[in-house]
Amino acid sequence: MNRIQIGADADAAGRLAAGVVERALRERPAAVLALPTGATPRPLYRELVRRHREQGLSFAAAAVFGLDEYWPLAPEHPQSFRRFLRAELLDHVDLAAARFHMLDGGAAAGALERVCAAYEAALAAAGGIDTLLLGIGLNGHLGFNEPGAPRRGRTRVVELAELTRARAAADFGGEEVPRHGLTMGLGTILEARRIVVLATGAGKADIVALALAAAPDEALPASLLREHAAVEWILDRAAAARIER
Ligand code: GLP
Repeated sequence: MNRIQIGADADAAGRLAAGVVERALRERPAAVLALPTGATPRPLYRELVRRHREQGLSFAAAAVFGLDEYWPLAPEHPQSFRRFLRAELLDHVDLAAARFHMLDGGAAAGALERVCAAYEAALAAAGGIDTLLLGIGLNGHLGFNEPGAPRRGRTRVVELAELTRARAAADFGGEEVPRHGLTMGLGTILEARRIVVLATGAGKADIVALALAAAPDEALPASLLREHAAVEWILDRAAAARIER
């Protein structure tokens, strides 16, 4: 079942998503969370930091898995997703460094299979994902699972779509955007017990409407979410504008 919640704007959507994370942590302090990067989750992370500082929301017993990473890209590169998640959220809350699991964008090609298998093993050892938050790409990608990614795919190295690289070009300044990424697979994503998709802004209105209307198909990874029993779409009004009701 896919539920839809709509906030007035991106900040309101961020607060709604923060509410889901907070409930997950209060229900089960040792919750296993999977978290995305991108512009969309910034208000969510701001709100979680605020709730940690002002209301004692604690991540101390939780585990966090980053959804994806560029490859090859040094972990300390300003555009690495590891750095993003630390700067936006994890450096400001009480999660122990050892409970943050991130795919290593600095790994050598020959080590990638081992890196991805170790990530899946860490996930299994943690008991699987309780709450997974996702953004959605303009082409319907989830994490770095671009159109055509296999629905049972596991964590692996993938080639990035040209649209994805073009969108990232501004962030990288003049530097070349990596051609590959490491990503949690769609199979891994769909095994999460609860999934929250966060989308805001008019630019996402078409792809959100399409993902919610099209028959589930690998050509549109986000449409596969409709086969999951517990998915919640948290949108702002602009991103919800084209949904058929
Ligand atoms: C990137 C990330 C995705 C993210 C998407 C949307 O490609 N790999 O995990 O969901 O972009 O980003 P934004 O929120 O900036 O639109």
